[in-house]
Amino acid sequence: MTDAAQPVLSTQSLVAGYERDLPIVRGVDFTVREGEFVVLLGPNGAGKSTLVKTIAGLVPVHSGTVLLGAADITAMPSHERIRHGLAFVPQTENIFATLTIHENLQIAANILPKERRNDRIGALYTMFPDLGSRPSHRAGQLSGGQRQMLAVARALVVEPSVLILDEPSAGLSPKIVSEVFDRLAAINETGVTTVLVEQNVKAALAVADRAVILVEGLIAHEGVASRLADDPIVAELYLGARHANKSVAT
Ligand SMILES: Nc1ncnc2c1ncn2[C@@H]1O[C@H](COP(=O)(O)OP(=O)(O)OP(=O)(O)O)[C@@H](O)[C@H]1O
Ligand SMILES: [Mg+2]
Repeated sequence: MTDAAQPVLSTQSLVAGYERDLPIVRGVDFTVREGEFVVLLGPNGAGKSTLVKTIAGLVPVHSGTVLLGAADITAMPSHERIRHGLAFVPQTENIFATLTIHENLQIAANILPKERRNDRIGALYTMFPDLGSRPSHRAGQLSGGQRQMLAVARALVVEPSVLILDEPSAGLSPKIVSEVFDRLAAINETGVTTVLVEQNVKAALAVADRAVILVEGLIAHEGVASRLADDPIVAELYLGARHANKSVAT
């Protein structure tokens, strides 16, 4: 990743929310360059999930634009965005717990032309040997970390240019969080631009290139992740005491 890399995803003056008269994202210019690993931080209720859901096409845009590369996708339905290489892993309900690993991947692969589906699932089994070793295992019986890996594998079915994840670490132990983040870093290394919404500030800053801090629906701060990690004022001002304490404790 270099500074000269092109924006692969961006929003301009984006205003979005669930109801017309109640904007949650209140004018956000968010740019992600090709190959970057960006972490999106901020206090509870800041609008992080709303921003990424809007980018994924799941929340109404009031004004402003969303660009994928040079293409204006503001009005594009969410399933079309996936087809265009924008993959989103929501925080909850990102797998079908009652179905097997294989069925979960098959459903995700339905978006591909028929002749590509099996090859792609095979490639994902190679990438995630834990899944490949037991395709008929029920997803609901997997550990928390393995479930997140299945959710990520489902998102990677389309070989996305951008992978957006909303708090994949929620509910996981610190050891498993670091395993999940290491896998995300490895996926990013293969060229998949990554946007990670996180509450695990310290662990996220350790894997990301750049951090963007959202407060009350606006970008309050952004910078190089490693520098932000060492900035106690930023932690206190923007991330809240809970997060500052957490990053000291872990
Ligand atoms: N489906 C919804 N309908 C209406 N309002 C919502 C909905 N989801 C979230 N909100 C509101 O939008 C605001 C921002 O919520 P959002 O979930 O985007 O924050 P967040 O930064 O992701 O918070 P957290 O760290 O808790 O996940 C909150 O005031 C929340 O109540
Ligand atoms: Mg959220």
